[in-house]
Amino acid sequence: MSQNVLFISGSPRAAANTKAVVNVVYRLLRDKQGNAQLLDLHRHVLPLFNGEPTQNELDSVIQLRKLVQEADAFFIVTPEYHNGISGALKNALDFLNGDHFRNKPVAIAAAAGGGKGGINALNNLRIVLRGVQANVLPSQYVADPNQIDSHGIFIDEAGVNALQSLVQDLISAIKVKEGV
Ligand SMILES: Cc1cc2nc3c(=O)[nH]c(=O)nc-3n(C[C@H](O)[C@H](O)[C@H](O)COP(=O)(O)O)c2cc1C
Repeated sequence: MSQNVLFISGSPRAAANTKAVVNVVYRLLRDKQGNAQLLDLHRHVLPLFNGEPTQNELDSVIQLRKLVQEADAFFIVTPEYHNGISGALKNALDFLNGDHFRNKPVAIAAAAGGGKGGINALNNLRIVLRGVQANVLPSQYVADPNQIDSHGIFIDEAGVNALQSLVQDLISAIKVKEGV
């Protein structure tokens, strides 16, 4: 597979469970010889989008758009914050549009607080990604805090298998796109 997959961690927090999930799927895809890039919204700090042309000249914005433009497919993981996606992820997506996402498959997952959390963020993410015309896969995954240890390592084997299946769905979608 020669396609370039961008993994986006949508949490602004340093010790993010979202990043723990991204680390798993990033490794799973890379092991299948995919070309994988990482965008961590804790490290890649963007200004609050204001639509001013001066923001187009900022390194952080140029770099964001370049990474997304060069990607052929995405795996986006969002935290659930107050029943939706993080402000950091929504803000990053506000710098982007259909020119960056059209005809590109996207797998999605959420890291939530446990119980029944996560689904609202995923539904919200689907609506926002429709706004940038992304081709979001029907499958998805929610990670709970008990699947991640105090060092930020995703430790649940059944969860890894479910994430593996989601990565496989993304690879299948990429192959369809490639016409393989
Ligand atoms: C501001 C804020 C709001 C949150 N709201 C929710 C929520 O609505 N539902 C939920 O399941 N978890 C909620 N959580 C818990 C996060 O989903 C949890 O911390 C999870 O680890 C993902 O966030 P992280 O990647 O930043 O660690 C919230 C956490 C924060 C900081």
